[in-house]
Amino acid sequence: MCGIVGYIGNKQAYPVMIKGLHRLEYRGYDSAGVAMINDDGELNVYKKKGKVTELENFAKVQDISGTIGIGHTRWATHGEPNDVNSHPHYSQSGDLVMIHNGIIENYASLKEGLIKRGHTFRTQTDTEVLIHLIEDIKKSESMKTGHAVLAALNKVIGAYAIVVLDKNDPNTLIAAKKGSPMVIGIGDDEFFIASDASPIVEYTKNVVYLEDEQVAIVRRGEEVKLRTIKDKEIPLYVHELEMELEAIEKGGYEHFMLKEIYEQPRSVKDSMRGRLNAAEGKVQLGGIVDHLGKFKNAKRIMIIACGTSWHAGLVAEYIFEEYARIPVEVEYASEFRYRNPIIYPDDVVIAISQSGETADTLAAIELAKSKGATIIGVCNVVGSSIPRASHAGSYTHAGPEIGVASTKAFTAQVTVLTLMALHVAHAKGTIAESRYRQLLYELESIPNKIEEVLKQNDLIKEIANIYKDARNALYLGRGYTFPVALEGALKLKEISYIHAEGYPAAEMKHGPIALIDEEMPVFVIATKGLNYEKVVSNIQEVKARKGKIIAVVTHGDKDVKGMADHVIEIPETDESLVPLVSVIPWQLLSYHIAVMRGCNVDQPRNLAKSVTVE
Ligand code: M6R
Repeated sequence: MCGIVGYIGNKQAYPVMIKGLHRLEYRGYDSAGVAMINDDGELNVYKKKGKVTELENFAKVQDISGTIGIGHTRWATHGEPNDVNSHPHYSQSGDLVMIHNGIIENYASLKEGLIKRGHTFRTQTDTEVLIHLIEDIKKSESMKTGHAVLAALNKVIGAYAIVVLDKNDPNTLIAAKKGSPMVIGIGDDEFFIASDASPIVEYTKNVVYLEDEQVAIVRRGEEVKLRTIKDKEIPLYVHELEMELEAIEKGGYEHFMLKEIYEQPRSVKDSMRGRLNAAEGKVQLGGIVDHLGKFKNAKRIMIIACGTSWHAGLVAEYIFEEYARIPVEVEYASEFRYRNPIIYPDDVVIAISQSGETADTLAAIELAKSKGATIIGVCNVVGSSIPRASHAGSYTHAGPEIGVASTKAFTAQVTVLTLMALHVAHAKGTIAESRYRQLLYELESIPNKIEEVLKQNDLIKEIANIYKDARNALYLGRGYTFPVALEGALKLKEISYIHAEGYPAAEMKHGPIALIDEEMPVFVIATKGLNYEKVVSNIQEVKARKGKIIAVVTHGDKDVKGMADHVIEIPETDESLVPLVSVIPWQLLSYHIAVMRGCNVDQPRNLAKSVTVE
């Protein structure tokens, strides 16, 4: 987590950095800070607890001039969120300042050594230790060439994306990364450094993605130089950004989350674009075509992910097992890596991640890779760490997702995983041609069906108004809609802070039914399909205990309508594709409830968009 920006060029650095920090605020918003060197060679550092606007309010009466600077928005790990623990952090002399995203795991032992050498520390952060270490090494190694930084990084265990600014050299920024993302934008006589491309896209489309253990020496008027921390020179490879500026702006919506919910007809279409041709019965997933043999021979698929991506993985489990007839295990990445899992070289491991930077998922990939498994990444952010760590994969192409609560990423992930499963099933011959074609046609119609559900927004808002003060909520689903129940509950709790649980509807009677009373809203998906009658019985069980039922039903449903307190009708679709349509009401419901409760929808407390710490 944490967002970092850096600028060096002809413009004033502060406005570029503040705009960039606002765009990166999704990565953390416990505090923010900037450092600039003005034309008189003075280093000015301003930091404030709270959001970027707090910093702006403070800085507007300060000297914010200078054409070189670094900025940071923090998600606290070591040290409480306050002004002092905010980044940038100073070295012992105060000449060097640094911003950091990541965790220096061996900071305590490094700190001990530095204290013995006379260093004193002002903060409780791990970051401060690293900038002291760099200054310590600077006595014998050059700062200008990046050698002091790379020598220090050789002593570090942990993850970092750092940018260092030296008061005595207003023409150089030194950046480095391992485990946390970093992009360098190359403009005309100016350079931008950021955690992702969103602060850069407005100025240049030419970017360099720094790889792990690389150090970039960014000097005014010179070409960027790259070295590894083992001091090997690396050629510069400049990519062209595909992102457009409009994609990272709110476009008239009150919140990014609402914009992203409404974008789903388009984002789902984008995730299928060029990949699905129902009329010809074709699925083309260029990214995995060379690995189709691995899928066909796999005795098992393991899916690793966190949060919403893990829910998408659960949907994929049902689809892969049903159509490709391959056993699937879905694992929380954070558990997988700490339990000595059995992984075979012929296992296919699918790693799902919106950001492509989730530390637990990355670490799980490395573990699976070390055992010889084939890693297939399903990620949204192009060029992020997980696709680069994977053997192959497919991007979800949902476009930038900025709201911390994941919405369009989920539907895009499920779409791509469905295409993948059908592709493999067809190649293996485990799905009948007619069923295959039927599903492809149905998949093509999903964007229109999502559009239909979005038209129910007013009704969903009314329902939200009735249940906005609930203290607890239960979400139920069965079969393909069980993961949607989990996802609905996660959405509600993360943005409205209402305690919610997702359960398989039939499991309710094994415990959660004890919670049901007239206060308890129960959100059920009761669409037509294999389990419909069973879910209807589960609804009756809730009603018999005076629980309130809010049901998502298939258009035209009569049975549930007769017993539920509220129903939201969605268009009929194939049971395997119901998650794509039935999740929309739960996204809208949690959005409206959170707004009505006065919660910060796009930046819920304690959370960050990319969880780059383990
Ligand atoms: O970027 P990723 O998909 O790897 O992120 C995984 C989770 O951190 C993420 O889905 C999180 O649970 C969201 N806040 C859910 O809305």
